Formats: sequence, structure tokens, C-alpha cells
Amino acid sequence: MTVKSPRNFLKPLAIGAPEPYRELPVRVERMIHFVPPHLEKVRAKIGDMIPTVDVILGNLEDAIPADAKEAARKGFIEMAAAHDYGSTGLWTRVNCLNSPWALDDITEIVAAVGDKLDVVMLPKVEGPWDIHYLDQLLAQLEARHQVKKPILIHAILETAEGVKNVEQIALASPRMHGMSLGPADLAASRAMKTTRVGGGHPEYKVLADPEGSAPRAVYQQDLWHYTVAKMVDACQSAGIKSFYGPFGDIADLAACEVQFRNAFLLGCAGAWSLHPNQVAIAKRVFSPDPKEVAFAKKILEAMPDGSGVAMIDGKMQDDATWKQAKVMVDCAKQVAAKDPEFAAAYGF
Ligand code: GLV
Ligand code: MG
Repeated sequence: MTVKSPRNFLKPLAIGAPEPYRELPVRVERMIHFVPPHLEKVRAKIGDMIPTVDVILGNLEDAIPADAKEAARKGFIEMAAAHDYGSTGLWTRVNCLNSPWALDDITEIVAAVGDKLDVVMLPKVEGPWDIHYLDQLLAQLEARHQVKKPILIHAILETAEGVKNVEQIALASPRMHGMSLGPADLAASRAMKTTRVGGGHPEYKVLADPEGSAPRAVYQQDLWHYTVAKMVDACQSAGIKSFYGPFGDIADLAACEVQFRNAFLLGCAGAWSLHPNQVAIAKRVFSPDPKEVAFAKKILEAMPDGSGVAMIDGKMQDDATWKQAKVMVDCAKQVAAKDPEFAAAYGF
């Protein structure tokens, strides 16, 4: 892959556009809450919703009917202008780049509310070329409309080609915020034989060896483990964040929680919420467990300079467990700064 020189990588792509960030802004993003902005009754609830979620995303792409695409774009502009979002992120998911709507989504939204928009989520990203295009276009629009801070890009990983190119996508621009798994489109793109939006499948399993006439144990496997792990490595090594995407079975709270927790344990920062009951799940899952945080604090206290060896509750601690503890405590501190309920549970 041909790459830009390090000096040029961090320069704005248009005269007058803001400087790209060197480090991502620190933000708690446990759930990216999807709303359909063409619906007036949904827009009427945004003010009350802002303090209850970490990110509000106005969805313009899939699930918005073709005849409502323009109303969704206008509705998003209206809801962006109507409220102060404070520390809650404001994102939009635009239509994909080869659709009839993407160009107007991007140009009209940046022109009208570019200063309020934190992140553009770009669907169906196949390679770094998609990011380069949006990167350049956003810079031109930021310059034209005197946007003060760079608008970040979040890619959805939802095609076989995108997964193949995930490392290059993660490194494509300093504008990259992170990536989400898009299990529904990805299943279709890969010709997986499923009809679900994320989650497990009862037929994806392994069977224990036969032992006499005893029933053979069956273990269901996680269809998404490989892709989530690959995404996490690509994102973490590029200094950006990874997210589990949507869980479509809104009524199956237990399965949603397990899928989210697997993603959290593997390194993801959050997931999408498609319904208010998934907000509570994401909040619980993507805020570190107070018991784990208490143990991590003990490790940091036992090894103040981060090196050496200590025994805590019979478990060996060294420089590497200190680093794990630091990840956990840093994450808990960020959550505590945003959420007083967790600040109390962590004792910060
Ligand atoms: C999300 O966009 C998905 O396709 O799962
Ligand atoms: Mg999709």
C-alpha cells in the first residue's frame, strides 16, 4: 500500500479546513442510539433523550424508506439545530456512497449543522478509497462553511471486501473515529445462510465426541467472534475505537446482553441501541463491573510505578496485569466522569 508521508498525513485536506486531531477526543460512547429523524414524534423526544444516552445517531440509511430519505435528512438537520447536545455525541449515518442520496446527505448536513456534528457513520465501506473520498469532501465542506472542529468518520464493517481490507480502512485517515460491525449486511455479503441481525445461531455449533450411549454435548459457537476480533486488532493498532453494531431481536434482552458483553470483553467500546431497552443493557455492559474495577485499583496501588511483581488474593501481578488494570481503571474513570451513578459504584 502506498501511504502518505507522516508530515502530510496530519495536514488539513482543504485550505481553511480545521486541523485533524492527533488524538481522538476522549468520549464515553457505550451506546450509539439510532433514531429515525423523519418521524416528527421521534424528533419531539430528542430533548428528553439527550441526557440518557452517550450518542444520538440520526439514521438516513437502511430502515429509512426510499420515499422518506429527504425527510430524514431534513429532520436530522432540524433535530441537530434544535438542541444543545452537551457531552452527548451527535452522529448521522448517511446513505452509502453509490446511492442517489449520499452527496446531498453530506453536503446539506455539513452546510447546515457542521459545527454540531461529531461523527459521520459511513456504511458499506469496502476499502480505504471510500474513506479518502469522504475525507476530502468533508475537508472541502468544512472549509466552505467554516466548521471549527474536524468531523470524524466511523466506518461500518459490513462487506466481505471491507473485512478483507479492515486494516487499511482503520489507517486511512486521521479523521477515523472507529468502526462498527454490521452483521446484517455482512451476512448477506458473505453468503452466510442466516436471516438475523447479529447474535448467535443455534445451528452454528460443535458436537463433543461420542462416549458410549450418553447424549453428546453440543456447544453453540459465536458466529461473530472472528470478525469482531479482527476489527478490534485493526482499530486498536490504529488508535481508533471498535463497536459491536446492531442486535435485531429487540425482545431477547438476555441474548443481546451476552453478545454485547462478548464484544466488551474483546475490546469494543460500545454497541448500537435500536430500542430504549437496549440502552440500559449497553450502559450496564460497557461500563466496567465495579468488582473488577475495585480489583484493578488494588493492582495499581500495589505496584505504584507499574513494574515488579505482587500477589493479590493469591494471583500473580506484574507489569502486564498492571497495564490491564490501567485500561480498566481509565475506562471506569471516563464512565464515572459522565455518569454519577457509576462514579458512586466505583468510589471515584
Ligand atoms: C448494519 O448496518 C448491519 O448491516 O448490520
Ligand atoms: Mg447495514
